[in-house]
Amino acid sequence: MELGIKTRIIILMVASALIQASSKDVGQQLEDSLDELIPTLLACRKLAGVSIAVVRGMETIFIKGYGRVDLDEDDAVTKNTLFGIASLSKAFTATLLGKLLATSKQRYTWDTSIRSILGNDFYLYDRIHTENITIKDLLTHRTGYPSYNSIRHQSALNRYRLVQKMRFLKPTLPFRGQYKYNNLMYGLLTYLTELIGGDTWENLMNRHIFEPLNMTSSTFIYQIELARKDLAKSYKVDYDGNLRQVSPQYHSYWGKIGGSGSVVSNAVDISKWLKALLNKGKAEDGSDVIPEEVIQDCQKPYESIRVSSWDIAYLRPAAPVSYTHFSYGLAWRIGFYRGWRTIHHTGTSMGYLGQITLVPDLGLGIFTSLTGDDPGYTSRRHIHYMLWIC
Ligand SMILES: *[C@@H]1O[C@H](CO)[C@@H](O)[C@H](O)[C@H]1NC(C)=O
Ligand SMILES: *[C@@H]1O[C@H](CO)[C@@H](O)[C@H](O)[C@H]1NC(C)=O
Repeated sequence: MELGIKTRIIILMVASALIQASSKDVGQQLEDSLDELIPTLLACRKLAGVSIAVVRGMETIFIKGYGRVDLDEDDAVTKNTLFGIASLSKAFTATLLGKLLATSKQRYTWDTSIRSILGNDFYLYDRIHTENITIKDLLTHRTGYPSYNSIRHQSALNRYRLVQKMRFLKPTLPFRGQYKYNNLMYGLLTYLTELIGGDTWENLMNRHIFEPLNMTSSTFIYQIELARKDLAKSYKVDYDGNLRQVSPQYHSYWGKIGGSGSVVSNAVDISKWLKALLNKGKAEDGSDVIPEEVIQDCQKPYESIRVSSWDIAYLRPAAPVSYTHFSYGLAWRIGFYRGWRTIHHTGTSMGYLGQITLVPDLGLGIFTSLTGDDPGYTSRRHIHYMLWIC
C-alpha cells in the first residue's frame, strides 16, 4: 500500500519542525513525531517491529522500539530488542580486518593479494583473478563475479570449503570492470581474517570490536538461542498477502560465511558503534578502539556504482531533496542528501530490514531495524531522510 496523504503530511511537518529545533529539545520533538509516524507506518505497511537509534556526536538523542517482537505474543519491541542486522555486518567485517591490518606492521594492506596470504591453497577460475585479486577487490565488490548466493544454503559448506569451491565459479564480468554485489567474497574475507588474526572470526570480533565498544548484547545469528524472547522474529509477506514468520533456523545457514551478514545486535549497541564511527574510533569511555585511518579508509569512494534503470533517477537529483549514492567504499555506500555527504548501508535478509546512515559533517548517525516487508527500501528511507535533519 502507498503511504497515505496523512503520513506524507506528517513527514513534512516533522521535517520542518526538526529544521527549527534546537539541540536541547530535539530528542523530545523526535519522540513526539515518531510516536505519530511509526504507528501509522506499522498500520499501513507490512511491518511487525521497528527499532530506531539516533546519535549526535557522543550523545544518543533518540532511541526507542515500536511494534511487536513476535506477532503471536504481546511483547513490545524495545531499545534492547535484538535484530539480525544482515549486511550491516559487512562494515563490522571491514573494520575488524582493517584493525588487524593496521597492527600487522605493514605486512598486509588493503591492496595485498589474496594469493600472497593463502598461498597455493587459493586459486580461482583464471590466472588474473588468482594472482591479482586483493582484499580491496573483495570488499568493494569489483571481482567480476555474479552473486552465486544459493551456495550459501549448502549444508556442508564451511569457510574453508567455500575457499575450495570458489575455483569452480566463473566470473561473468571483467576483473575490476564493474561493481557487482557479492556476499561470498565476504565469506572469503571471514576466512582471511581468521588466518591473519589467528582465531575464529567471532572471537576476533568480540575481542577487537564488541568488547572494547561495550556492545554487550551483540552476537551472531548462529550462536544465539533462537527462541529468546528478546530476539525479534522476522517476517515475510506470504502468497496470501499476510506476514508469516521466517523459520529462525533459516538465518543460521548464512552464518557459514559470517562476515557477509551474521551479526545480531540492538539499538543500544549499534548506537555505540555509530558513536565510534563518528568520533575517530573512540568508545563512549574515550578509549581508542578503531584506528582513525581505518574508519577514513572505509568511507572513501573506491568503486563506482553503475547506474541501473532502477536508480538512474537518483544520480543527478531531480529535486534538491533527492538522495544519491554513487560509490562504494569498504562496506559503505557513499552519496549525498540535500548536499550533505552520507555514508550508508542497508541490510536485508529474509524479513530483517536494517539501515545505517552516517552524516559525518553533522556528527549524525541513524540506525533503524525493521521486521517485515520493505519493498524498494521505502519505509527505511522515509525514516532516515526524515530523521537526519535534526
Ligand atoms: C597481476 O599480477 C601480476 C603478478 O603480480 C602482475 O605482473 C600484473 O601486472 C598484474 N596485472 C594486473 C592487471 O594487475
Ligand atoms: C556497558 O553497557 C551497559 C549497557 O548499555 C551499561 O549499563 C554499562 O554501564 C556500560 N559499561 C561501561 C563500562 O561503560
